[in-house]
Amino acid sequence: MSHRLLFVCLGNICRSPAAEGVFLHQLKIQGLESQFLVDSAGTGGWHVGNRADARMRAAAKQRGIDLPSRARQISMEDLKSFDLILTMDDDNLRNVQALAKEAGGSASALIKPMLSYASQTTITEVPDPYYGGDAGFEQVLDLLEDACQGLLSELSTQE
Ligand code: 4NP
Repeated sequence: MSHRLLFVCLGNICRSPAAEGVFLHQLKIQGLESQFLVDSAGTGGWHVGNRADARMRAAAKQRGIDLPSRARQISMEDLKSFDLILTMDDDNLRNVQALAKEAGGSASALIKPMLSYASQTTITEVPDPYYGGDAGFEQVLDLLEDACQGLLSELSTQE
């Protein structure tokens, strides 16, 4: 297993499970699943144990993408056991960085904004779609498909 990736948002029911599903979908298409361990988590714990939001799952299904994950909250252990943590917005980034600081020297994961890997947009944060309409879920998937492609092409060219 050469790449361990954790996608992080606030609730772990919309954006990060979608990022996980989109990335897994692209891995499958390229036959690279065996080289990656992929998971997602939320900085908050309100939805722990829940499936991804039904609106997010329906939008992903339209694109042939399954979102099977169950919500969990990020822990300090994740900062050691993953190589790369991808955050959806600036709040997530600050919260994960704070957790890394708390974990001290054992926090070896690299923490990066997901959209730093996108090439088709100038948007730097994946907008939270939870309180909005259907267009928000489509935008999340558009942004994530772009960023996942950039992420995968960068990582698959590394040894
Ligand atoms: P996510 O979206 O962070 O993309 O999973 C949210 C889901 C739930 C809530 C906020 C954001 N919430 O406040 O319950």
